[in-house]
Amino acid sequence: MMEKKKLNVLIKSWGCQMNMYDSARMADVLAPLGYQKTEDPKQADLIILNTCHIREKASEKLFSELGRMRELQKLRAKQGGTLMLAVAGCVAQAAGEEIKRRAPHVKMIFGPQTYHRLPEMLARAARDGEVVLDTDFPPEPKFDYLPDEHGDLGVSAFLSVQEGCDRFCSYCVVPYTRGAEYSRSFASIRAEAEDFVSHGVREIMLLGQNVNAYKDEETGVGLASILRDLARIEGLERLRYTTSHPLDMDEDLIAAHGDMPKLMPFLHLPLQSGSDKILEAMNRKHTAADYLETTKRLKAEQPRLALSSDFIVGFPGETDEDFEATMRMVREVTYAQAFSFKYSRRPGTPAAMMKEQVLETVKEERLARLQALLRQQQTDFNEACVGQTLSVLFDNEGRAPNQFFGRSPFMQAVRAEGETSLIGSQRDVKITKGSPNSLEGEIV
Ligand code: SAH
Ligand code: SF4
Ligand code: F3S
Repeated sequence: MMEKKKLNVLIKSWGCQMNMYDSARMADVLAPLGYQKTEDPKQADLIILNTCHIREKASEKLFSELGRMRELQKLRAKQGGTLMLAVAGCVAQAAGEEIKRRAPHVKMIFGPQTYHRLPEMLARAARDGEVVLDTDFPPEPKFDYLPDEHGDLGVSAFLSVQEGCDRFCSYCVVPYTRGAEYSRSFASIRAEAEDFVSHGVREIMLLGQNVNAYKDEETGVGLASILRDLARIEGLERLRYTTSHPLDMDEDLIAAHGDMPKLMPFLHLPLQSGSDKILEAMNRKHTAADYLETTKRLKAEQPRLALSSDFIVGFPGETDEDFEATMRMVREVTYAQAFSFKYSRRPGTPAAMMKEQVLETVKEERLARLQALLRQQQTDFNEACVGQTLSVLFDNEGRAPNQFFGRSPFMQAVRAEGETSLIGSQRDVKITKGSPNSLEGEIV
């Protein structure tokens, strides 16, 4: 047999956890071709930029990055080598032709649903010297073609169970970039989870753009059944899932929060706005009261449950009064953490065409006020943990000697002193300090 050439690939990801998962799987697809991962762009034979299209700022990053890559390619050519450049992910899906036109030094452009075809794309790009553009939504999902082998997974790993979105919130590009909702078969999820655990994974975060809409096509079982089944895998200590739509929080899933010790008491449940008028214009299909009701039912099952959310300020037509309704909801629900964004007009989405776009300065003011409130709540939540003993799953070494990092059940980063054997284990930690972004404690 011919000796396989050693090649280096650098994969850079932006955007959501699903992109992180995809990047890891791209590396798995490339490994049999002799590609090893590198962090050093100067060492790379192939660079893949796995992009996000969610807000204007996110997709602009690509074009500035592409300029830097052009310089790197020139440097490489001077040294007699070649650097192949690829753009993947949601910008590739939404603006593939534009990338092809504006950046002729990019040789492969492919979306989130076709990266299992990377080996043939690479062969075509190398052979024909032509730009390969593959933004199909294939009838057979990528999951049927991805390799069973995994590279380094760490202690806590992402596992995609559901892709795409059929909800069409009026501001959002995801239904266009990721395509229609599709749930992976339960059998393949189970097999992947077992493999993860055999490689040392102790915590799995199940992923989907609309993860609680998961439904196994064959058996009809939903996300709660999957969680219950995965909880039986020996060695798997923690389960989480993200991102959920409030409308898809069904009885089974709410009950699971009450009686599944492995399901962590932390839930990301985006509200977006506290105003019913805006929620309707966003096509969220629920009211603020519905959301409150859902969180109450969840907390009745799991009183320790901590919540996280996403918010958009300055959606078209949002008045001061609408914004105050958001502030009131945040005060009423109280969040352990949350993300908030200025509304960004995305071409092709219904909200982009709406009149009454909100002034940038108004958006900025509202965002600052909302973020101050959310930051205060996060700080309060962290400070309230001081004196408590929390179970921490350690997954990272710090820079200082004997310093280790892990996550609490509520997703907080926790720092403690210990030994290398801590990595991969769950320990009780007495919290001694709470700051806005993390906790410190002592192992008991
Ligand atoms: N599927 C997830 C979210 C995916 S996008 C959900 O339904 O919650 C992540 C977050 O980005 C969204 O929750 C929303 O708050 C934000 N977002 C999406 N489109 C946006 C836009 N056009 N402008 C500003 N924020 C946006
Ligand atoms: Fe976007 Fe709405 Fe789907 Fe979330 S549920 S991905 S915000 S369309
Ligand atoms: Fe961004 Fe695509 Fe995720 S647009 S948020 S990378 S689904």
